[in-house]
Amino acid sequence: MPVSISVVNQKGGVGKTTTAVNLAACLAAAGHPTLLVDADPQGNATSGVGVIPQDLEFTIYDALLEQAALEETILPTFITGLSLIPANIDLSGIEIALMDRPDRLERMKKLLAAINDRFEFILIDSPPSLSLLALNVLAAAERVIVPVQCEYYALEGLTTLLQTFERVRETVNPNLDILGILMTMYDKRTNLAQQVVAEVERVFPKQVFTTVIPRSVKLSEAPSFGKPIIYYDFNSKGSEAYIGLCQEVLERVKETRAGQGAGRPVERFDESPLGERSPRDGAAGDAERLAAGDPAGGDPGQP
Ligand SMILES: Nc1ncnc2c1ncn2[C@@H]1O[C@H](COP(=O)(O)OP(=O)(O)O)[C@@H](O)[C@H]1O
Ligand SMILES: [Mg+2]
Repeated sequence: MPVSISVVNQKGGVGKTTTAVNLAACLAAAGHPTLLVDADPQGNATSGVGVIPQDLEFTIYDALLEQAALEETILPTFITGLSLIPANIDLSGIEIALMDRPDRLERMKKLLAAINDRFEFILIDSPPSLSLLALNVLAAAERVIVPVQCEYYALEGLTTLLQTFERVRETVNPNLDILGILMTMYDKRTNLAQQVVAEVERVFPKQVFTTVIPRSVKLSEAPSFGKPIIYYDFNSKGSEAYIGLCQEVLERVKETRAGQGAGRPVERFDESPLGERSPRDGAAGDAERLAAGDPAGGDPGQP
């Protein structure tokens, strides 16, 4: 079974999509075949990996409603080892479409359960709400990463979020586990950012990732080029941070899977995330695929 990780926080603008896209790209570049699932009608994870959300034949909406076969909704991306189930504005109609279905809370869970071992990781980007759609994501995932912005109201809303996790655990998904809390948009020039990190670490000593994501212009520019940061500016601080997060995620997954005696070999996780192959090599290979007319590999162009 692939490891499924959802990126969840009901607050908007905290770095969920940025984290889902960049972590997925780093995992894929590290040699772990990964499926990125866009579960937000805004479709930002979709465009973040270079797929244009408009005019898609099938999206996650069709998959959730069983209007398309799962395979038909999985697209390749320009990144070797990274596939995508895209989303667009159609997804905003999902709540109404699912209203009368008794299994409406578990549509995503059933969908992901059908995804086989050709992926090692499934990364799910979620909407900024605790709507039916967000609950579907929590019902489906084994692990959650909670991005928290380094700002004054950082802890606000976290209690509600944790209560929601608890309710999901008691009902549809007893296996739900927090993989980690990720501090995002850290500005080292301000005392506030340092205080916020210290405070969140005090409240959640075990959960906070050692890696902190800095506030970085490059990270905010990359999506408009349809590229994860390691393909946009490999030598940037943001790139370094998401590679660090990838390493930590691999370690945490390895620890817990080993603890459970899970059947999957863990040796693969001992490889350094980017292995011998730098993403640049990947980009060269991608150029060849593009030349060969890879359908999802089109350059989204400049903004
Ligand atoms: N570390 C960062 N540094 C600078 N800008 C960032 C960073 N992380 C995210 N952003 C930008 O902040 C905005 C919100 O981030 P996003 O990942 O879309 O949040 P969410 O998905 O939680 O709404 C986006 O414009 C994104 O490009
Ligand atoms: Mg988002």
